[in-house]
Amino acid sequence: MAHLPLRWPAEAVWEAVAPLLAGFSVEVLPEIDSTNTELMRRARAGHGDPVLLVAEHQSAGRGRLGRQWSSRAGDSLTFSLGLPLQPASWSGLSLVVGVAVAEALHPRVGLKWPNDLWVDGRKLGGILVETASFALADAPRQTVVGVGLNIHRPPGEGLATPPASVDELLPELDAPAVLARIAAPLVAALQAFETAGFEPFRARFEARDLLRDRVVTLSDGSTGTAHGVAQDGGLLVHTAAGMRVVHSSEVSVRPAP
Ligand code: BTN
Repeated sequence: MAHLPLRWPAEAVWEAVAPLLAGFSVEVLPEIDSTNTELMRRARAGHGDPVLLVAEHQSAGRGRLGRQWSSRAGDSLTFSLGLPLQPASWSGLSLVVGVAVAEALHPRVGLKWPNDLWVDGRKLGGILVETASFALADAPRQTVVGVGLNIHRPPGEGLATPPASVDELLPELDAPAVLARIAAPLVAALQAFETAGFEPFRARFEARDLLRDRVVTLSDGSTGTAHGVAQDGGLLVHTAAGMRVVHSSEVSVRPAP
């Protein structure tokens, strides 16, 4: 069931985030193709001011690995945060986003490497991180962090695993309240990552790592046992050929049945 109309806390989010991020603004749109696509378009056009863009509906939402991301207005939270970042290393960035969102939400939210949010064996939400450079190689890159969360249970037809929703954990929160809860911690985590990298987040990821000690199948057909994450955020998988560090750009991972 769709829960409309929504009252978005743009001012409260701005007040919480603006002290951390100069020039920050919040925009809420009834519909757009994809909040990530829009912020990447703006970045390529040279607009790199920090912004949080919320869409009540996306007509062409995108997931990782070229997948579609579909959601229904009122039943989901879909937003992207765009900000310039210049970390010494980009390794582990998407895991940091997962840690920040999971910690801001609920102790029962787990992370399926690299950054899927799961509850009780079902997907609660997903994260799509993209970057665009403005000009020089060693200048900050515009970083677009897209987050999609099921707030109320969407129809699960056609999905191998029925999805989870935030209202199972926090029935009192609607999409605007969930946004208000995660926006500032997400910005703070990205800034901590820019300063100190992935290492301070490693134990926090591992505390929610759903794949640990599970047999996993990689999309290249190989299997092994997951053993947490390496310093760079790669998934450690013990295979017949020895320990392998898997990076998300190479493969998708699923727990073996
Ligand atoms: C995944 O699980 O594959 C990642 C899903 C990311 C979805 C969010 S919704 C807001 C933002 N805009 C998009 O088009 N995608 C991300």
